[in-house]
Amino acid sequence: METSCRICAGPVKGSVDLGVQPRGNAFPKADDLAGEFFYRLLVGMCDSCAMVQLMADIPQEVRYHDQYPYRASNSTVHSDHFAGVARRLLRTELTGFDPFIVEIGCNDGVMLASIADAGLRHLGVEPSQEVAALAKSKGVRVLSSFFDEETAGEIRAQHGPADVIFGANVIAHISHLDSVLKGAVTLLGPNGVFVFEEPYLGAVVEQTAFDLFYDEHSFVFSVSSIRAAARLFGLELVDAEPLAIHGGSMRYTLAKRGARTPAPAVAELLADERARRLDRHATLEDLSRRAERVREDLTALLRELRADGKRVAGYGAPAKITTVTNYCGIGTDLIPYVCDSTPSKQDRVVAGSHIPVVPPSVFAEDSPDYAVLFAWNHAKEIMAKESGFTGRWIVYVPEVRIL
Ligand code: TMP
Ligand code: ZN
Repeated sequence: METSCRICAGPVKGSVDLGVQPRGNAFPKADDLAGEFFYRLLVGMCDSCAMVQLMADIPQEVRYHDQYPYRASNSTVHSDHFAGVARRLLRTELTGFDPFIVEIGCNDGVMLASIADAGLRHLGVEPSQEVAALAKSKGVRVLSSFFDEETAGEIRAQHGPADVIFGANVIAHISHLDSVLKGAVTLLGPNGVFVFEEPYLGAVVEQTAFDLFYDEHSFVFSVSSIRAAARLFGLELVDAEPLAIHGGSMRYTLAKRGARTPAPAVAELLADERARRLDRHATLEDLSRRAERVREDLTALLRELRADGKRVAGYGAPAKITTVTNYCGIGTDLIPYVCDSTPSKQDRVVAGSHIPVVPPSVFAEDSPDYAVLFAWNHAKEIMAKESGFTGRWIVYVPEVRIL
């Protein structure tokens, strides 16, 4: 199958086939499974700009419904990270007279709350009402809307140019990325920057993290693909910085073309990507083969444990669990429940595989023999929290192992 690139209209060939999948964050109620939405999860790379992208087009209204369950403040590591981002922007980019910052997808205000506390002009653009209400309760100004070229023009008309546009774990979600980049050009002042941090293709490939692919992740960025995309719309990649968050992310800084001198990190990371062949189809095809191996190993292990009468549970219900369980065909026969600390996910089931999500207290009482760590990017925090767990952890990234 071939489609055309959402950024440059070049040819995109499907390289990773993760089968028929529901929406990663759907978490339906057990008695409301009739209307589940399914699509074919195929991932490909553009021949021209090397952008890795989903090949299905899922309407964003279907994805970001009012009860969108993801809470950016769900982990203390994340909360600390975003407070740190705010401090750094206050110190570096927001030092002029009456600065203005816009955050795309401000979620529950985890970053902007610190900006609001500092008394700076800011605006969060957040289409999901429930999380927007949480942000507002922290004193954050929120516009309930999707960010695109048109919204950017409206914001500029009302508030003037922005010094910073920020986004975290949201820009790669937006299928109309071209309109976002045009909007950034519209909204930024002459020396403004568009800073965003998103899961990094290099980390996905290195860790065989195929579960990072789900409906919300329209793209997985790399330094080379973002540099190419920025150029097409009059922007320039002026800095890139690897981050440990979400299992391996990259923070990109774009400025208007010619406004700033690119930091040495850009050329260094580009050279590294070329050496790792991150811009080649063969790299995705190899990832696909390694994902198949994880599927074989994980299902074999879970069947063996079931045959031995062992009790197995899941730990953490990130959207990733939807991809893994549906790709591997893992249902309640192999994992009877998964615990997650997010109240809005509890009393619901994982879409497609229908594994019930329960509060962590159920896990503590049940004390299973094995726990599959689906929130693997929070391994440190979770293992520290569950230091009393007497069973053993099972991880499947970068390969299936019992810890
Ligand atoms: P994320 O990887 O998209 O941040 O999602 C992590 C999920 O794991 C989220 O649903 C919350 C859950 N979680 C727990 O249940 N317990 C924890 O201690 C942590 C850190 C996360
Ligand atoms: Zn392209």
